[in-house]
Amino acid sequence: MPGPGPLRWGIVSTANIARAAFLPALRAAGGTPEAVAGRDLARTREYAQAHGAGRAVQGYQRLIDDPDVDILYIALPNALHAEWTIQALKAGKPVLCEKPLCGTLADTERVLSVARETGTLLWEAFVFPFNEYLRQIRSLIADGAIGELREIQSDFHFRVSRPDNVRMSAELQGGALRDVGCYPVRLAQEFFGEHRSAWAARELGGHGVDIETWGSLGYGDGRRLLLSCGMRREYDTFSRLLGTAGQIEVSNLFHPGPGDHVTLHQPGGEPVRWTAPASEPAFTAALRHISAAVTGAEPPRLLATETSLATASALHDLAAAC
Ligand SMILES: NC(=O)c1ccc[n+]([C@@H]2O[C@H](COP(=O)([O-])OP(=O)(O)OC[C@H]3O[C@@H](n4cnc5c(N)ncnc54)[C@H](OP(=O)(O)O)[C@@H]3O)[C@@H](O)[C@H]2O)c1
Repeated sequence: MPGPGPLRWGIVSTANIARAAFLPALRAAGGTPEAVAGRDLARTREYAQAHGAGRAVQGYQRLIDDPDVDILYIALPNALHAEWTIQALKAGKPVLCEKPLCGTLADTERVLSVARETGTLLWEAFVFPFNEYLRQIRSLIADGAIGELREIQSDFHFRVSRPDNVRMSAELQGGALRDVGCYPVRLAQEFFGEHRSAWAARELGGHGVDIETWGSLGYGDGRRLLLSCGMRREYDTFSRLLGTAGQIEVSNLFHPGPGDHVTLHQPGGEPVRWTAPASEPAFTAALRHISAAVTGAEPPRLLATETSLATASALHDLAAAC
């Protein structure tokens, strides 16, 4: 267990997501970035200074072995998640690894087995299940607001224009399904559990990746997810949860911001709309919980060992169905 005081985070790589989402949330949650590691020291120093990421360290292993680092945030391209998450777990340091935990089902199984063997805490950076927004929707459904939930329709599209973006590389295990299709999959898992069947189709592009994938996952009793994801449309993360007696529309369940909203439709009634509780950066609730869990103040929730295999298995089956 780390010593007293805030957890000292080490950031593995000078990723955009660490700068844009992780660091603002860490500050909001009261955490400290101790150091950031990159392949090139000069570039890492520049990044550390520009974004307040702590000390610059050359090389990921050096950061993992650093005695002043308590916990690691791994923000590497997908193909490198398994190798570096395993190194961190073996060093006995808790890990928040970016989603998807790994680019393949086999690597996911390998990482989860190291997490179990070492008993080290591991989270996959799906932050929306920690947020108030999903809690509100879950409680509406539990209260019977839309009857029995039967179908989820969920999109995640955005535009990737640079051909050298890591998402465009098959070698780095990019592609739309892994990058953003994983969100609808994880959402459906929250409500329906493990899938039983998969169907999908895709368009290829970039350097051998799926530019768009669309498909469905089937769950028990005919419940289903219809998903669509891609990297060539404007940003759209619309989701609709359809029940036997109504439906809930959510403008951006995954990363809500100002102006995002939920609309409840019930037969015979006027739609009821309210805005998302988005007063803090999207990662904040997850980071607050992780900090409390690592210091023993809360029992850990939503660990990768409980959630990530089902997601990886659904992603695997969707890709295999194309
Ligand atoms: N949870 C979310 O909301 C969210 C949002 C966006 C992205 N993500 C995930 O975060 C991860 C990183 O995405 P990103 O968009 O932030 O990536 P990015 O900006 O391209 O950063 C990836 C970093 O990995 C390092 N790297 C090591 N080997 C590399 C290689 N062969 N090619 C390119 N970079 C390499 C580089 O840092 P150094 O050179 O300094 O080592 C680079 O800055 C992905 O797994 C993605 O799915 C999550």
